[in-house]
Amino acid sequence: SIIVPSVQELTNETIINVPPRYVRTDQDPPSVTADTWLPSVPLIDLQKLVDDVRADELERLHSSCREWGFFQVINHGVSSSLLEKLKFEIENFFKLPYEEKKKLWQVADNHEGFGQLFVVSEEQKLDWETLESYSAEMKKLAMTILGHMAKALRMDGEEMRDLFSDGVQSMRMNYYPPCPQPDKVIGFSPHSDADALTILLQLDDTQGLQIRNQGRWVPVKPLPNAFVINIGDIMEIVSNGIYRSIEHRALVNSSKERLSIATFYSSRIDSELGPAPSLIGPSNPAIFRRMPLEEYFKEFFARRLNGKAYLDFMR
Ligand code: SIN
Ligand code: FE2
Repeated sequence: SIIVPSVQELTNETIINVPPRYVRTDQDPPSVTADTWLPSVPLIDLQKLVDDVRADELERLHSSCREWGFFQVINHGVSSSLLEKLKFEIENFFKLPYEEKKKLWQVADNHEGFGQLFVVSEEQKLDWETLESYSAEMKKLAMTILGHMAKALRMDGEEMRDLFSDGVQSMRMNYYPPCPQPDKVIGFSPHSDADALTILLQLDDTQGLQIRNQGRWVPVKPLPNAFVINIGDIMEIVSNGIYRSIEHRALVNSSKERLSIATFYSSRIDSELGPAPSLIGPSNPAIFRRMPLEEYFKEFFARRLNGKAYLDFMR
């Protein structure tokens, strides 16, 4: 594999122009003119669904998943002290000397470790206890949300639980250093997520995430203590296209670093991926084919981040 120098290291030296390999001319310009009105991503109050399933909130969840593929969730039950602790530890991790982080560098064909894409591994120097509780909370939250989605979709709840109760879970921490020429680069190229459900925690109020909505890029404004939830390709497939996995990207800015933690939740490793049987019938034919999950992931990793085009192989 090709070792690309760490962008964080690059920015430790004062640079005025970004090196050519980071200059992107193939992307839509990041800046939206200040006078453009843009809608905000829907906000779901999870408590309203937990207490006594509020039909209006469930309907809002449903339309968010269909029309936006994204929503923010508040009153999710994950303790704010856990989030604070995690934030503190992750910020400290990125402040470690480069030599320390390099010890965790990714090796070829392994998606774990520190590198261009950083995924949590058990060897890393983070307080494992905090990460373990966070990851357990994320699993709980994912299962809760999936349960509500099953209701909203009128999908057999047992089917959903069978697919996801011991799902594949992974995490990635994203660090975006400030950039002297933010309009020339992209923090994270447009892509859709391969998993079923992504739970993103934005670590501070620095904006960066944008999602595609009706042909334009809409920013997702960080809200304190909220998670950004998005539908991944697996859920688009399971819901037979009713829920949509939407392209998104991350921008950088000239003054502030930005950190986010993404938790990816997928179905069981031995599951077969395909539209949920309870959602298909004579009037709703399956629009995706079936494939073992492992094979699907192989296909995914064989393709480069290239917008959403790759999902075509499932049609
Ligand atoms: C991602 O798609 O994982 C990047 C999200 C972000 O950093 O906002
Ligand atoms: Fe993503």
